[in-house]
Amino acid sequence: MLRLIYTSVRSSGLDKVAFEQLCENASRNNMALDVGGLLLSNDLEFMQCLEGPTEAVAAIYKKIVRDSRHSDIRLLVSETTDNLLFATWSMLGLAIKPQSVLSSEPIAYTLLDHRLYRPWKSLGIGAADLIYEYAKVKAELEKAGEIGLLDKVFDVYQP
Ligand SMILES: Cc1cc2nc3c(=O)[nH]c(=O)nc-3n(C[C@H](O)[C@H](O)[C@H](O)COP(=O)(O)O)c2cc1C
Repeated sequence: MLRLIYTSVRSSGLDKVAFEQLCENASRNNMALDVGGLLLSNDLEFMQCLEGPTEAVAAIYKKIVRDSRHSDIRLLVSETTDNLLFATWSMLGLAIKPQSVLSSEPIAYTLLDHRLYRPWKSLGIGAADLIYEYAKVKAELEKAGEIGLLDKVFDVYQP
């Protein structure tokens, strides 16, 4: 199986409803192909982990890179694996509130005001660590039967 992780910059004008629709459609398509993953959004950017059968993941990624709802797509991780991080999620959308992304970086607020700051892009390849961290959090919350806590931190789009 294949796992891909990329970041991209959201196109302007993509609102909450459009993000929800994107997640719903992605989830439906992915389910049919046994593909899963996580789609994070921080208002300005996306970061996505896609995983599943190699050919299906590659075919979806080909469509994604041509999608005008984002640009500046940077593939951070492409790895084969037997261990799916998000096996139970066909495509869970998590919208991160900017203040929680940036709470430890006051200067970033100023930059964000100027619409210049792209936190994940600026992290480069290290941004992918966030995905692995979220996979651990997911596993721990599931073990504790507390996956509903995700709602407290994110706007969750789960079809
Ligand atoms: C950030 C982002 C993530 C996406 N993720 C997926 C996905 O996981 N699966 C998927 O089928 N399409 C995804 N898409 C949408 C595809 O680019 C494409 O629009 C869609 O697969 C076409 O589906 P349709 O044939 O049902 O219209 C994503 C698009 C964007 C912008």
